[in-house]
Amino acid sequence: MSCKIDYQPAPNLLENRIVLVTGAGDGIGRAAALSYAQHGATVILLGRTIAKLERVYDEIEAAGGPQPAIFPLNFEGATLKDFHDMAETLDKEFGRLDGVLHNAGLLGRITPFEQYNPELWQQVMQVNINGPIWMTQALLPLLQASDDASVIFTSSSVGRKGRAYWGAYSVSKFATEGFVEVLADELDNQSTVRVNSLNPGATRTQMRRTAFPGEDPFTLRTPEDIMPTYLWLMGPDSAGTNGQKLDAQPPRV
Ligand SMILES: NC(=O)c1ccc[n+]([C@@H]2O[C@H](COP(=O)([O-])OP(=O)(O)OC[C@H]3O[C@@H](n4cnc5c(N)ncnc54)[C@H](OP(=O)(O)O)[C@@H]3O)[C@@H](O)[C@H]2O)c1
Repeated sequence: MSCKIDYQPAPNLLENRIVLVTGAGDGIGRAAALSYAQHGATVILLGRTIAKLERVYDEIEAAGGPQPAIFPLNFEGATLKDFHDMAETLDKEFGRLDGVLHNAGLLGRITPFEQYNPELWQQVMQVNINGPIWMTQALLPLLQASDDASVIFTSSSVGRKGRAYWGAYSVSKFATEGFVEVLADELDNQSTVRVNSLNPGATRTQMRRTAFPGEDPFTLRTPEDIMPTYLWLMGPDSAGTNGQKLDAQPPRV
């Protein structure tokens, strides 16, 4: 499916919507949290570094957006109980969820598989796929309480075609694509909840700098540049889109 880089969102696109963003303190997640709030959403900022979440909170308030909420959580050590406690807290506070952007991610190491450390492999799988899956299960009743809920899982080009040395990161993104297909098929036609995968494409963030240290970051789009597709997929204009694999920018030539 083509990307929506030219999408022009209505200024109040996400008004009265409650949206959770994981990894909201930095990179693409930070830009999405700010952009969703700018378009009217009450954003729940989830992440592992509280100081970064607080900075995003302050930026949203300073811009006059709806008052956000901070939810500190580290996917590495998070248990099923943490996800269920979280759902209970959000239920008490908001009573429903209109969207989740699963964005938090860990690169691990780019290294030959022969040298891949099994503990690091588990860590990457925990943060990139296992944690988000069980968090989604805990949050489903809150999403089902919405008239129109959008769940977005962040993929990668290496989750659609394997690439040498990308190890657990690539495998976790393939698993993400697979999980989206399974859940979307379950939700098809009988649910107000839709789930899709979104590949941001090469974007100027810390993760990209770590993966490609020799690259000139100024040749890349910024997180702000790719927000049109993030807004389209989170808002009502994408209603009915379920189980699709989207790209946030056209392929680079
Ligand atoms: N940038 C790209 O070119 C690109 C391309 C394809 C896909 N992606 C995907 O896009 C998403 C965002 O990536 P990014 O480039 O914005 O990366 P980033 O700048 O490294 O940001 C990653 C975010 O995830 C959070 N995070 C990492 N481990 C976590 C954990 N254990 N628990 C909770 N939060 C955790 C980080 O928190 P801290 O700030 O506290 O570390 C940070 O906010 C990822 O899923 C990535 O795989 C990015």
